[in-house]
Amino acid sequence: MKATIEEIARIAGVSKTTVSRVLNNKTDGVGAKTRQRIELLLEEMYYCGHSEAHPLQAPRSKTVALILPDITNPFFAELAKAAENYLSKSGYMLFLGNTDFSPEKEAQYLKSFISKRVDGIMLVSTAQTCTPNHRMPAKYGTPCVLMDRKLNSMPYTAGVFTDNEYAVFRSCELLIRNGSTSIAFISGPKDVSTSLERVEGYKASIQQYGLPFDGRLIKFSNYTLDGGYNAIMELASEGIHYTGVIAANDTMAIGAIKALSELSYRIPQDVEVIGFDNIGYSRMCSPPLTTIQQPIIEMGRTASQLLLNAIDGKKLKDRRVYLQPKLLIRESTRKE
Ligand code: RIB
Repeated sequence: MKATIEEIARIAGVSKTTVSRVLNNKTDGVGAKTRQRIELLLEEMYYCGHSEAHPLQAPRSKTVALILPDITNPFFAELAKAAENYLSKSGYMLFLGNTDFSPEKEAQYLKSFISKRVDGIMLVSTAQTCTPNHRMPAKYGTPCVLMDRKLNSMPYTAGVFTDNEYAVFRSCELLIRNGSTSIAFISGPKDVSTSLERVEGYKASIQQYGLPFDGRLIKFSNYTLDGGYNAIMELASEGIHYTGVIAANDTMAIGAIKALSELSYRIPQDVEVIGFDNIGYSRMCSPPLTTIQQPIIEMGRTASQLLLNAIDGKKLKDRRVYLQPKLLIRESTRKE
């Protein structure tokens, strides 16, 4: 359903000027609740700007853009492949924008892809940084679907996510049941929703099982091999003792295993290790990694389906889909 500025103003019960101010990010003097109400209507009703500016007035390009933080991370590569597979079967070409963890590049890709008249955008955001360009999909009525990570600047945008908190709660529970009373957590970046949700799952499990909470056991890192390796070396330099390590993704878990081996820890006898994602390397590393299986293929397909429905102007029944992760027990943890 496409809406004009007049319709948005009428439904929101405000003037056209107020809607324009929100559209152009000039929101001083506009109450927070009013702004949120207008933003929701803009995203839900896909405001159509003036025809000369509106990319969706033009005939469809049958192209979709996928913007993601790090194509060298197998999680994102597998996610991109799943999305491309579904979209190409639906007659769409996929353009890829790799932001290399840069919010500035992410903003540039949003602007460039909209100006190139893609029919829709799938976004795995690299950070919570909100830029005016993050308002462009709503402003120009370009359907946008989030994958994997939520964005404070796009609170109502449709998306497909994993239940991160539950997943890490289960991982921590396994280590506690195996006898661990001191568990290190290697997190992703602080300004990424999946990192914060996983830390919450770790804290909830520690609390549920009555373990003492020690903030020194949480290391924020960057979802990379070196990030996992360096976090273990940092814990060693601080003389911090633990018998379990949970890494917020498999890439960091593999880096952590390398560091633990260099420090002469035996896995799992001395320290148990659990990752997150279940990328292909996780079953090939030594020892094979216990991890959380993210439904990567399902996430790519479901997000693609949501986006194509939005492009076809169908009202999205479920704007936010949560997929269930699964704990895969391999040899980096002891048998329960
Ligand atoms: O491996 C990259 C991580 O960042 C994944 O766990 C994914 O959920 C993303 O948030």
